[in-house]
Amino acid sequence: MRTHHLLLALGSVALLASACEDSSNGASQDTDSTPATGSETGADADTDAASDTDTDTDTDGEPEPEPVNLDIDAYPFETLSEYNFFVGDLRDLVPNERVIPYTVAAPLWADAADKGRYFVIPEGTTIGFTEQNEWAFPTGTVFIKNFFFDLDRGPAEDLRVIETRLLVLEASGQWQSYGYIWDDEQIEAEQTKAGADVFVDFIDASGNAQSQLYIVPDQNVCESCHQRDDATLILGPTTRQMNTTWAIEGDTEVNQIDWLAEHGFFDGEVPDASELPALADPAGDASLDARARAYLHGNCAHCHRPGGAGGSSGLKFTVWEDNPADFGVCKLPAAAGPGAGGRSYDIWPGRPEDSIIPYRMASEDPEVKMPELPSLLADDFGVSLIEEWITQMPGEDCE
Ligand code: HEC
Ligand code: HEC
Repeated sequence: MRTHHLLLALGSVALLASACEDSSNGASQDTDSTPATGSETGADADTDAASDTDTDTDTDGEPEPEPVNLDIDAYPFETLSEYNFFVGDLRDLVPNERVIPYTVAAPLWADAADKGRYFVIPEGTTIGFTEQNEWAFPTGTVFIKNFFFDLDRGPAEDLRVIETRLLVLEASGQWQSYGYIWDDEQIEAEQTKAGADVFVDFIDASGNAQSQLYIVPDQNVCESCHQRDDATLILGPTTRQMNTTWAIEGDTEVNQIDWLAEHGFFDGEVPDASELPALADPAGDASLDARARAYLHGNCAHCHRPGGAGGSSGLKFTVWEDNPADFGVCKLPAAAGPGAGGRSYDIWPGRPEDSIIPYRMASEDPEVKMPELPSLLADDFGVSLIEEWITQMPGEDCE
């Protein structure tokens, strides 16, 4: 999605170069090799006007895009296009100016769906940085998360977007969630409160054809993961999850925290990302322990921590817990029953076949499976990772 990156590069540079009105050319027309990163001053500080006129055949002759609509008092809109998060055809998912794409180090499994994440903060506002917890976003911030499937895994991505989820920080200080379901033609997405069941045919990341049911959750389900101590929270934007690289603009990957700091997004000085904690990529090449802990943090810790929906189980999957009993080692389950599958301990070091965690992760029985709904399918990758971790885990016999 090269045009996507090019347009974004122009957009976010324009955001910083608001005073500069000359129509420029040059560096940022180069779609391949010249990310605007780090070059926010000088020649390639394009303006709005430049981004609409002289760059890309896709935009030639098209009217200037409307700015993002951040009038949160008028939210929610019935259709996704009314927000102007994306310019041009909605299905192309080209982010508007000021709409920043990002990723997380250890993403949540959602029945094989791919995700696209973005956020936008109101003009003139900044983000409060913290090392441990969720960053503090200004009122009027919107997070946007698209869920889609790749239909052919060809070089030109042929995507079927199923749903878009929003979290909006209202003046009350509460995050409000809204959901949108895309039509089959991929022209528009309509607001839904009830969610829907959708059948999708797609090619999965391993290249296999899949045909499956996908559940667009109803709006009450959001809380099960996004609430802690009765307050709705954003989950991804923490230092550990954001401290990873991504092609925010241009085709070159940059560290997201360094990029945001360089572009003035934070309300104060932020240490260099290399000095900050980070989650491992669960599919990367860090140690098995770091990858397994990152997986559990990204997929389970929003519920399994004090104040979360699974807090009463006593399991704490936040990556900073260093007492093994807290993340399940030789821990008896809070309640036995079918969820335990006849196994005694959440983790029995060296014995995955006697450990409850991989059993519940591998199950597709709604009474047993972890995480709980709305996902229906087990994440085979995650199950193998956790089994391998338990297999190699040093530790005494639980009994
Ligand atoms: C099974 C748990 C779960 C449920 C249910 C869930 N989310 Fe999330 N959501 C997450 C996690 C974990 C993240 C952060 C990691 C990521 O982006 O992959 C996230 C990220 C998001 C984001 C990006 C901002 C952020 O918080 O990181 C939005 C927007 C969002 N969810 C909206 C929703 C809405 C709206 C619903 C209900 C329709 C919903 N989510 C239901 C777990 C969940
Ligand atoms: C949406 C919230 C939620 C998510 C996400 C979630 N859990 Fe749970 N989990 C719960 C709740 C609630 C319980 C207690 C009820 C039960 O046992 O079903 C629980 C119980 C458990 C138990 C029984 C533990 C005990 O000691 O009692 C295990 C094991 C478990 N979860 C593992 C996981 C793993 C592994 C993940 C991530 C792959 C995960 N859970 C994700 C909510 C969640």
